[in-house]
Amino acid sequence: MMLPCNQKNKEAIFLMTFAQDFFIGAATAAHQVEGNNIHSDYWAQEHMTHTDFLEPSGDAVDHYNRYPEDIRLMADAGMNAYRFSIEWARIEPEEGHFDETEISHYRDVIHTCRENGIEPIVTLLHFTSPRWLITKGGWESDETPGYFARYVRFVMERLGSELRYVCTINEANMGIQVAAIAERYRKQMMARMQSGQTDGTVQMGLNLEKMMANQEAAAKERMEIFGVPKTECFTSPRTPHGDEIVMEAHKAARAAIREAAPHIQVGLTLSLHDIQALPGGEEQAAKEWADEFTHYLPAIADDDFLGIQNYTRTRMDASGSLPVPEGAELTQMDYEFYPQALEHVIRKAAEDFKGTLIVTENGIATSDDTRRAAFIETALSGVSACIADKIPVKGYFYWSLLDNFEWQKGYSMTFGLVSVDRTSQTRTPKPSLALLGRYAER
Ligand code: BGC
Repeated sequence: MMLPCNQKNKEAIFLMTFAQDFFIGAATAAHQVEGNNIHSDYWAQEHMTHTDFLEPSGDAVDHYNRYPEDIRLMADAGMNAYRFSIEWARIEPEEGHFDETEISHYRDVIHTCRENGIEPIVTLLHFTSPRWLITKGGWESDETPGYFARYVRFVMERLGSELRYVCTINEANMGIQVAAIAERYRKQMMARMQSGQTDGTVQMGLNLEKMMANQEAAAKERMEIFGVPKTECFTSPRTPHGDEIVMEAHKAARAAIREAAPHIQVGLTLSLHDIQALPGGEEQAAKEWADEFTHYLPAIADDDFLGIQNYTRTRMDASGSLPVPEGAELTQMDYEFYPQALEHVIRKAAEDFKGTLIVTENGIATSDDTRRAAFIETALSGVSACIADKIPVKGYFYWSLLDNFEWQKGYSMTFGLVSVDRTSQTRTPKPSLALLGRYAER
């Protein structure tokens, strides 16, 4: 709740605090921090000759072994919650072979959280899948919801009694967003080629001939590794049918969780942009929001909470999404620095989703920690304003606790509240860690 800001005490606005049971914490995902996720689809792709990854994840930031230190860092900073993911490829490295020692590992992580006064919020799928799942058609196959529910049941029967909040799937809408970006890119390429630039090289220093040759070689290599011509990983461009499969997987997982541990609050998370319509762009913006959010409402209506993940805004006019405004501050990801987006997205989602909202990710990749601090302060004042207006926001998780493996971009993006020297795996908290911790009531 924000303290009253009056004329006499203008500083009061900086003393924003939240209710005691409001979660303040940070988020990570197994593959991005643990290291050596060798049975996963991502690991296989990172090690292809024709890989799209800048570098492999390798030991990552060794969170698999150093989680006690990392959890202590959060507790020392004052935080009261930690969102992390359980890795399916560790629990079920081969189809139907479940590994109890990995369950023990995650049980230890949960216990370490509790010993440190930290609420563990678990995600059951954060982009990576076991490699075997992809050989069976992955996230476009009708069998996948059944496989996912079987894994979820195995985990929940063992760990469910120790948890209160579980996210089934991280950014369930990611594949649809990737499909839209891929389509936009394809259209741009076609337009360039049709304008006469068909001799191999095009503007922007691209070399289409080489790209096509690489794509063919990569497809051949994928066939050798996965036994399928097209790998349908969770973040591959999704078809509408694949989108339905993701929702079926969520619903099957939700049922399995409720059966094994009925006390658990269940939800999924969505990647949501603050979509702003410029004059003439209203229709485009409404369509974009429907694709990104509202068409999922029937599938999530029975959830206990919705995880909101937001990083920036998108402005749209009649022609579609626009580049960031000229002169705008950019993050390392080339996103516009726009922390106000979070408040806008929470308000918009709350119009239609009537359950609890949790900000499961919000953050910025920057080498300037003072900008991270400014980002967090603005984002949290937006959250506080929403709560003041009776929107049921239950927590805020900054992405990410540690500088980590940013998927295809490798280790080049620094989102963390804590930096890591990956040679020695030494952790160095940034000032923003303590800043965020000060917002928590413990
Ligand atoms: C994902 C994270 C990712 C972050 C920053 C989110 O879409 O859940 O895994 O690292 O954004 O790009």
